[in-house]
Amino acid sequence: MAKTQLQKLTATSFLILTFTILFSLTLATAKSHRFSRSISPETLGLKKEKLSHFHFYFHDVLSGPRPTAVRVASATMTNTSATLFGSMVMMDNPLTVAPEFDSKLVGRAQGIYASASQTEVGLLMVLNIAFTQGKYNGSVLSVLGRNPVFSTVREMPIVGGSGLFRFARGYAQAKTHSVDLNTGDAVVEYNVYVFHY
Ligand SMILES: *[C@@H]1O[C@H](CO)[C@@H](O)[C@H](O)[C@H]1NC(C)=O
Ligand SMILES: *[C@@H]1O[C@H](CO)[C@@H](O)[C@H](O)[C@H]1NC(C)=O
Repeated sequence: MAKTQLQKLTATSFLILTFTILFSLTLATAKSHRFSRSISPETLGLKKEKLSHFHFYFHDVLSGPRPTAVRVASATMTNTSATLFGSMVMMDNPLTVAPEFDSKLVGRAQGIYASASQTEVGLLMVLNIAFTQGKYNGSVLSVLGRNPVFSTVREMPIVGGSGLFRFARGYAQAKTHSVDLNTGDAVVEYNVYVFHY
């Protein structure tokens, strides 16, 4: 009788031990695959948020042997639309410190602008401002906004960034500096205000 009880006890202990091991393993596995957690900004080396202002000129070259912006798509009705509704242009536009095309290059505006309004020339702008100078070389600001090109000053949100612009937010103001009415080539002055770390 005593022997059977001892055997029962041993069996129970063994079962408990097995479950404990299995449970610990499950916990350990869950831990190494943890999906989300809270961390402090210091963990990413983020200290004080600062505000920066950038000023440059954007060159939209549609004509000549080396255009920097090319129409890549349009709708059947685009040519009959006064606002070229539906046309889409891919750009790789140089950004320079002065209005002259051959002044110092500070970056490029790479992305798409598309005619998104049927009542005025209102462009959907989706682009990355890729800086190529000094400490900002390799850092990028992302712009997503509306550009009614015949307004004096157009404002577009900066929705984020990478490199030195991680967690960036702000706005860009665009003002036409000059435009060639024959070719459509334009130089646009940009003032960008951005919070970043
Ligand atoms: C629309 O205009 C463009 C540029 O003038 C021309 O290349 C294209 O063939 C026209 N498309 C249609 C559908 O008329
Ligand atoms: C910017 O970075 C690229 C890639 O690292 C490098 O090739 C280029 O020389 C840099 N430009 C300047 C002006 O520092």
